[in-house]
Amino acid sequence: MDKIRVTGGTPLLGRVVISGAKNAALPAMVASILTNETVELENVPFVRDILTTRKLLTKMGVQAEVREDGTATLNAAQASGHDAPYELVKTMRASILVLGPLMARFGRAHVSLPGGCAIGARPVNLHLMGLEKMGATCDVVHGYVDASSPGLRGAHILFDTVTVTGTENLMMAATMADGETVLDNAACEPEISDLASLLRSMGARVEGDGTRTIRIKGVPKLHGCRHRIIPDRIEAGTFAVAAAITRGDVIIAKCAPEHMAALLLQLIGIGSEVGIENDCMRVRGKDPILSRDVTTQPYPGFATDMQAQYMALMTQGNGTAVITESIFENRFMHALEMVRMGADIRIEGRRAVVRGGKPLTGANVLASDLRASASLILAGLVARGDTLIDRVYHLDRGYERIEAKLAALGAKIERVR
Ligand code: UD1
Repeated sequence: MDKIRVTGGTPLLGRVVISGAKNAALPAMVASILTNETVELENVPFVRDILTTRKLLTKMGVQAEVREDGTATLNAAQASGHDAPYELVKTMRASILVLGPLMARFGRAHVSLPGGCAIGARPVNLHLMGLEKMGATCDVVHGYVDASSPGLRGAHILFDTVTVTGTENLMMAATMADGETVLDNAACEPEISDLASLLRSMGARVEGDGTRTIRIKGVPKLHGCRHRIIPDRIEAGTFAVAAAITRGDVIIAKCAPEHMAALLLQLIGIGSEVGIENDCMRVRGKDPILSRDVTTQPYPGFATDMQAQYMALMTQGNGTAVITESIFENRFMHALEMVRMGADIRIEGRRAVVRGGKPLTGANVLASDLRASASLILAGLVARGDTLIDRVYHLDRGYERIEAKLAALGAKIERVR
């Protein structure tokens, strides 16, 4: 299995180009189920979750091509299957996203429940609650959701917790339902708005995305379209933190700074210099790195997907920072690996107390999830000696050529096969 070796001590300098957002491309690909015409996507990142989604769609009879140049062509005219098997869902929880489109197009779905994962329980009860409100019957049998409906109808759905894929699933389910669906306390993430604009290009009537209330008026039929995926704000954020932690100077190109306000304000607060010009930002890391608390929140708050990377940064802070994880109950696995590198981090329930200023030393560490892998690379960039990161398949799920992009900025990093 591949590992990544990082040798710390080099400030990152130069320019990096950001890929398309994995978490926007996944729902965009599955939205192709909603029509028998072709959906063409641009700026799709060539990462493992995207290839898993292609496999899943192919199994359902969708003709799905994804190319390394970032284009994808999807046609579900011949789609007949409505099965998302455990083998694929267990490697990628976002597979649950097929549920909404399958119900909208075929009125039937047989989708494996994802089960537990490294960052917490992550149930899908709200996805099912919404579909039931729209008139579907959802049974859990042999580990699968067995859903069916003679025809979905519009409903008023109130989420008691903000859920990103739950909002996306129900938006897609509602596109061809009979009447209007209102999603209340919906997620506001930029990936939601990207899906909404794709659905509008397909002929759907969606309003209010980007706010807590989304309204979808059902239409009889959707058609094909061409759509460009937004830049990946988490990849861009990871490079911004890489610049800050190494006291480097990095131009992050083809990103969407307007989607990253919470992180950029936090970086300015810890002393980094941040400049923005259109779709480019320049991040310059400064000494000292100031320790500052943060709490993860749904968008527009500080993203849980940046929490691990920020923790790596705070190990180099000049004081103590409290990091509170309010989205997932068990998302501090990376902290224990950072402690093995010499960091001073105490976990108290949902809070991590990070005492900065301890020099890190390279170690053999295990990645537990996608963003944890990235945070261990960041820690490795400032550690003395070599850090060898195991289980990097997590990293390959969501970062496109991360080691090549970091190496081009001067990082000493290589993949060990
Ligand atoms: C998405 C992102 C993931 C990000 C997360 C939070 C994708 C493919 N993944 O994951 O990168 O970390 O948003 O920003 O876009 N919950 C319930 N019941 C449900 C659904 C969710 O209780 O039916 C809870 C979860 O356990 C969690 C919280 O809601 O505590 C938020 O989870 P959610 O937004 O659904 O995460 P995902 O959509 O899976």
